[in-house]
Amino acid sequence: MPAMPRKIILDCDPGHDDAVAILLAAATPEIELLAITTVAGNQTLEKTTLNARRICTLAGITDVPIAAGAAGPLVRDLRVAPDIHGESGMDGPTFGEPTVPVSDRHAVDLIVELVRAHPGEVTLVPVGPLTNVAAALQRDPGLAALIPEIVFMGGSTGRGNTTPLAEFNVHDDPEAAQLVLDAGIPVTMVGLNLTHQARATEAVVERIAALGTPVGDAVRDLMTFFAAMYEQVFGLTDPPVHDPCAVARVARPELVRCEDVFLAVETEGRWTSGATVVDLHGVLGHAPNAKVATELDVDGFWELVVDALATYR
Ligand code: BDR
Ligand code: CA
Repeated sequence: MPAMPRKIILDCDPGHDDAVAILLAAATPEIELLAITTVAGNQTLEKTTLNARRICTLAGITDVPIAAGAAGPLVRDLRVAPDIHGESGMDGPTFGEPTVPVSDRHAVDLIVELVRAHPGEVTLVPVGPLTNVAAALQRDPGLAALIPEIVFMGGSTGRGNTTPLAEFNVHDDPEAAQLVLDAGIPVTMVGLNLTHQARATEAVVERIAALGTPVGDAVRDLMTFFAAMYEQVFGLTDPPVHDPCAVARVARPELVRCEDVFLAVETEGRWTSGATVVDLHGVLGHAPNAKVATELDVDGFWELVVDALATYR
């Protein structure tokens, strides 16, 4: 365990894989989770916030503030993903009434406050549309200089999952993603090309179910629903568990190999709006402005996740 865990804010839109990211971030010793902030994405803000409270209540995560943020993208209309995450945004398990409260602070205010309270120490980990992070940088332009790194789940070096070339989180709010890239903060993109290496195979789900705890059972049920949707929509067995990959990169950087690249977001393309342009071979001649994740230590990743899940009793 490192002497100093890395402070993070997890900005999310739970979301099946977001739920696993929350459970990982709150339990793994390499990370100090300062706050969970929610954004509209997989479902409406009301639903994603309720889902964050549900998962924290189930797991007994009572010491991390949950703050609700943007109800929709910076300039576009909100598009949610019930085809993948169901009407609740986290269909599958049965959850009781959440007892963990939602903060009376707006997520953007909380992000600004926490970054300013710990200058140079708070890594932002957005795993939904980047609206809250972009809004925080717009609200307080001096913030960029105080953020050591943003590690986001989104984009892809190749094909998309929402349109042929665009991944959901970036497709939902491309202007926010580009604004974050333009802020001059060290950025790491953990995109579909990486997260499709983190598949919830039957063996993985069995390991999680074998924990025999309420959290293990809930994650099993989440993964079972997620798998059925991925099969239906993409014809893919063993769904990719995207969001915890970004948390894993912060917790244990050696698990996620990255390359320096020039990265841009297509905000105007007729067919490609929301696509990430990742210049892996430097053919555009621009200096690298980001790291992009390329290779996952799959066994190490699942060990990290299962170990974290096992801490919940
Ligand atoms: C991303 O979109 C959402 O459906 C998931 O939670 C993940 O953050 C994958 O494209
Ligand atoms: Ca997400």
